[in-house]
Amino acid sequence: MSSFLHQRPIQNPFSNANPISPRSSSTSQRPISIFSPTALIILLSLMVILGVFAPWSGMPQSMFSNSKMASSSVSKWRDYSLAEAASFVAKNGTVIVCAVSQPYLPFLNNWLISITRQKHQEKVLVIAEDYATLDKVNGKWPGHAVLIPPALDSQSAHKFGSQGFFNFTARRPRHLLQILELGYNVMYNDVDMVWLGDPFPYLEGNHDVYFTDDMTAVKPLNHSHGLPPPGKKGRPYICSCMIFLRATDGAKLVMKKWIEELQAQPWSKAQKANDQPAFNWALLKTAGVVDLYLLPQAAFPTGGLYFKNKTWVRETKGMHVIIHNNYIIGFEKKIKRFRDYGLWLVDDHALESPLGRL
Ligand SMILES: *[C@@H]1O[C@H](CO)[C@@H](O)[C@H](O)[C@H]1NC(C)=O
Ligand SMILES: *[C@@H]1O[C@H](CO)[C@@H](O)[C@H](O)[C@H]1NC(C)=O
Ligand SMILES: *[C@@H]1O[C@H](CO)[C@@H](O)[C@H](O)[C@H]1NC(C)=O
Ligand SMILES: *[C@@H]1O[C@H](CO)[C@@H](O)[C@H](O)[C@H]1NC(C)=O
Repeated sequence: MSSFLHQRPIQNPFSNANPISPRSSSTSQRPISIFSPTALIILLSLMVILGVFAPWSGMPQSMFSNSKMASSSVSKWRDYSLAEAASFVAKNGTVIVCAVSQPYLPFLNNWLISITRQKHQEKVLVIAEDYATLDKVNGKWPGHAVLIPPALDSQSAHKFGSQGFFNFTARRPRHLLQILELGYNVMYNDVDMVWLGDPFPYLEGNHDVYFTDDMTAVKPLNHSHGLPPPGKKGRPYICSCMIFLRATDGAKLVMKKWIEELQAQPWSKAQKANDQPAFNWALLKTAGVVDLYLLPQAAFPTGGLYFKNKTWVRETKGMHVIIHNNYIIGFEKKIKRFRDYGLWLVDDHALESPLGRL
């Protein structure tokens, strides 16, 4: 990891060359008065230039050589706002997001290959947690990554159970709430997932929040779609790894509650919490007023079931839609398990990814 990442004074408001907060305006961010004729000419020229050169203008990617994009300055994408990014990728009012720091790039690529096979890749927005990821993704696939400041220290952000990891995942509900406030439905995925099918047909009805169970116990195929009852810890065990939210007040309320719960129970050495318990408390506490929907286990099994019960996998053959490589800790172990199950696609199919080989 290059050291320049840590030299950037990202928290210094004066380091931002753009005087207008990206969040305060989704339209014009350039301090030019549109009433002066000179400015109009400049603006028109700008539009022409941007129309040709702006990576988010919808020009075919093949127009650019990857190296040309990658070699442009690091700050190139700094002012690309979430509003711009969401409006660029959204299709039918929906975006698919993940949050990725540099060490997870191989998993991102693996996940992207599987989404491309289901023809949903155009909706994908990568929330880059560091500048290296922002530039890497946008260099290869312009417009598909955004960084919502501040960037995290990527060295500390990826150790499961660490405070850095907690900080990393604690940002998730804020990002999702922002996207809902912009008016988009949003599907969130962890990138240690692989799509075997298209999940969208499973998002039946008009519920506010859709999610999957992280419990390994086998359920009948016709199980209830309601929030499962609380377990031993007084709350359910829903996975915060795959969530679909409609841009409704109900979904926004769940995100706000999730943020509150994270603040109420911050990370501690003893607890080594991640963001999942807080999500479950939020679901439990809003269940009376928000329309929640549990997705079918056979289509969205936890890794604790899919990778551990061969009998069940055989019985539910052909029904699996998204596989989550959880219930295992460590990059190498996860990669090995994906390889063992033929789900590590980056070795032989990297060219199917919009990022290509990384
Ligand atoms: C667009 O979204 C609506 C409502 O969410 C859905 O019913 C419809 O099937 C979607 N259309 C496409 C082409 O995905
Ligand atoms: C995590 O966030 C807390 C509170 O914002 C901060 O004090 C701490 O330094 C952060 N730790 C890491 C490792 O990022
Ligand atoms: C599932 O099917 C069984 C057997 O057909 C039935 O007894 C049960 O009530 C069903 N459960 C639900 C939640 O529909
Ligand atoms: C594995 O799956 C089978 C078939 O669904 C089920 O009967 C059995 O209880 C499961 N085993 C465990 C340990 O959950």
